[in-house]
Formats: sequence, structure tokens, C-alpha cells
Amino acid sequence: MKIAILGVGTVGTSVINILKKNRHMIAARAGEHIEPVIGVVKDLKKPRECDIELTDDIDSVIDRDDIDVYVELMGGIEEPYEIISKILDKKKAVVTANKALLAYHRYALQEKAGDTSFGYEASVGGGIPIIKALREGLSANKIEKIVGILNGTSNYILTNMMQSGIKFEEALKQAQDLGYAEADPTFDIEGYDAAHKLLILASIAYGVHGNPEDILIKGIEKISSEDIFFAKEFDYEIKLLAIAKKTDNKAELRVHPALVSKEKMISKVDGVMNAISIYGDALGESMYYGAGAGGDATASSVIADLVDIARENKNPMLGYKELSEIQKIELLPTSSIRTKYYLRVKVEDKVGVLAKITNLMSDNKLSIDTFLQKPRNKNENHTTLFFITHTSLEADVKRVMSLLEKEDFVDGRPFMIRIED
Ligand SMILES: NC(=O)c1ccc[n+]([C@@H]2O[C@H](COP(=O)([O-])OP(=O)(O)OC[C@H]3O[C@@H](n4cnc5c(N)ncnc54)[C@H](OP(=O)(O)O)[C@@H]3O)[C@@H](O)[C@H]2O)c1
Repeated sequence: MKIAILGVGTVGTSVINILKKNRHMIAARAGEHIEPVIGVVKDLKKPRECDIELTDDIDSVIDRDDIDVYVELMGGIEEPYEIISKILDKKKAVVTANKALLAYHRYALQEKAGDTSFGYEASVGGGIPIIKALREGLSANKIEKIVGILNGTSNYILTNMMQSGIKFEEALKQAQDLGYAEADPTFDIEGYDAAHKLLILASIAYGVHGNPEDILIKGIEKISSEDIFFAKEFDYEIKLLAIAKKTDNKAELRVHPALVSKEKMISKVDGVMNAISIYGDALGESMYYGAGAGGDATASSVIADLVDIARENKNPMLGYKELSEIQKIELLPTSSIRTKYYLRVKVEDKVGVLAKITNLMSDNKLSIDTFLQKPRNKNENHTTLFFITHTSLEADVKRVMSLLEKEDFVDGRPFMIRIED
């Protein structure tokens, strides 16, 4: 089977090298040799750590008749969409690791692909075979909930903040120095990367449509040392979670930092690792853990897709042969989310403030489960109050936060973290 590698960067290089290193074993499993015959790059002068003929003329590669599978590892959204569309028009199989592309165009690509193979195992969880697990292994189950740590960069930063007690900025700098975070880390720390992956999983679980703009996405950049103090005090970890669940026949999708009970398996996932817990009605919880990024780990998934194609395994791209029933599921509006909330409010330390806050909360349907006041530093006339609510409506919590912000005894903006326990 002849393949073209569109993009010979971190992942493309690993795909080529692993196909060479494990050539005979992969051929034995696939039933034929998988041969990367041409690679496409932007800059032909850049040194490469793999041995393959290269070109910067992508059209000439798409026009070739001898290529069986195109592996898209360039990144981007609209450009790879155009390129892959042309390839699918020629009925040639495609494999991609590109979650951003799929977050926007997965249904259009599914339609264009029809019976042509389209692999995207590497787009979620890097080397973790989560697409196969969800689409094939769990096909008997109604999926009740998916809870994932889908971004290694954010998880590394949060783990470091919790374990070393350092501030966000310092933890980010360390992640950048170690190569775990990009020079521009926005995409990872603000939750967009995890959201792209969540949309892909939610399509398989629920057949739900929607773009990143349609779901709740919050990042970790506002997590403070005070939040870490509270989490430690009450036996929580703080994790950037991607959550999909079915609520009242609607799909609730959200990405945000969450206080996670230390009893949950997912709270123990530290550093750059990824993990996804899936709750099925037949199986219960099952959890998938591993390297969510890195050239070789991601290439492991890309090659698994290539082996599937060589074996002529036919799986419907997003997991459904018949879409009529599940297409009825819509996204739950973010204001209708119900969960428990942690609120941090900095206030003037004077008599009557606490009563005013608790009254304001109860007037707006928030009931308090736990309360803590941080010991005040000498010479300061402000103190920080922490509240945990019972299960509440997101809209009510938002209203309370904006009302509190207007009070003259409140300093700055109150801050909220959702709780997953
Ligand atoms: N890296 C990971 O750990 C990881 C994990 C999971 C998924 N992914 C996904 O895998 C894909 C590739 O990631 P990567 O880290 O390997 O990226 P990368 O290191 O930046 O490599 C991208 C490659 O694509 C080439 N390229 C980009 N635009 C092109 C164009 N218009 N025409 C021709 N070639 C072009 C680049 O050429 P030059 O080399 O000449 O610049 C480079 O070889 C992305 O979609 C990413 O989200 C990556």
C-alpha cells in the first residue's frame, strides 16, 4: 500500500520512521507493506530526520494515480479541508491527526468520504486508541458521560501548580522551557484544543453537531494560588476537564477547569498525560490513559488507521450507519448547565458582609454547602471567602457573580470553578 505524507513535521517524521523501523511486523499485521513514497512540505531546505522523497508541490501528489492513502499531518483548518476534499473526490483513503479540521468539518467530511476510508484516531488523545474504543468497543452502550483530560500542556501546568505551589505564570514558563507548551500557548491553556477533541468524541457518542463556538470553553489562566489553597484544604485536584453528557435528551458539552474529588480516578492523572473516562449504561465506567501528544505516540495512532485500511476494515467514520434517531440530539444551552460550583470572593473584612453575601445567594437560588474564610494577613483589610454550592443552575451562579461584583464591599471580580464529583 503506497502512502503520501502531507506534512513531514513532528508527527509525519515519526510516521515515516516507525513504518521503517517496524516494517515487517506492521506488514504481517496489515497483510501488506505500507510504503511512504512521497512527503509534502512547505520548505524543502529544512533539515529532516527521516528518509523520504520530498516535494512542495501538493497538487502533483494529489494527481498521482499510484497513491492509495493520503496522510494529512499539516495542521490548519480550511487549507487541509480543501485538500482532503479533492482527495476524497478521487475516492482515495485519508488519515489525519487534525482535530481542528474535524471540530469544524467532520460531518461534511463524513459525507464526502461515503464508503471511502477516513481514519482520525490520532486526532483525540494522541496515542490512546480512544476513537476505536468509543466507536467500536463500546457500540453496545448508551453513553451517559465522557470526562476527559485531553490537553497535556494544561494538565502539566495544573499538576505543577498543585504539587510545587507555584503560580500559573511560572508553571507555564517551565512548561515552555521543557517543550510541553508552545511559544503561543493560547490554544492549549484556554481550552480550545480540548474542545476540538471533545466535539469529535461527542459526535461518536451522541451524533451531536456543533462547532467550538457553540459550547462552553474556559481555560486555566485565571486559576490562582488561593484556588490551589482551597483545593488542597478540601481534598480536590484541579483539572482542565472536557465533559460531554446527555441531559434531558440534549447533549451538554463543556471544557473548563474543575475541582475534582481525589477519589476519582481521573484526579490522579498528572503531568502531560491524557485520560478519558467513559460511562456506558452496560459497561459502567472505563478509563483510557496514555500519552496524548508527541511524535511517536501520535504516529502510533496514525499507523493503526493505516493498518485498518490495509485490512479493508470498514467502520462508519463517526460510528453510525443510520443517523435518523441520534440526529435529534441538540446541544444544551450553556446557561442550562447544572452542577456544583466553587466561588471565590475577595471582600472587605467587616461586620455584616458575610450575611449580605449569603442573603444575595439565597435570593438567587444558590444554596451553600461549604464555606471557608482564608486567614487574613496582618495589615490587610480584605479577606477571601470561599463557597461551595449545592447543585445549581449556571445562569443563577453567573447572576450572583455579577451582582456581587457591583457591591462596594467586594474587591475585584468574584471567580468561579465548576465541580465534578
Ligand atoms: N505534535 C503532536 O504531538 C500532535 C498530536 C496530535 C495531533 N497532532 C496534529 O497533527 C498535525 C501535525 O502536527 P505536527 O506537530 O507534526 O506539526 P508540524 O511539526 O508543524 O508539521 C507540519 C508539517 O506540515 C508541513 N506543512 C504545513 N503547511 C503546509 C502546506 N501548506 N503545504 C505543504 N506542507 C505544509 C510543514 O512543512 P515544513 O516542515 O516545511 O514547515 C511541516 O512539515 C496537526 O494537525 C496537529 O494538530 C499533533
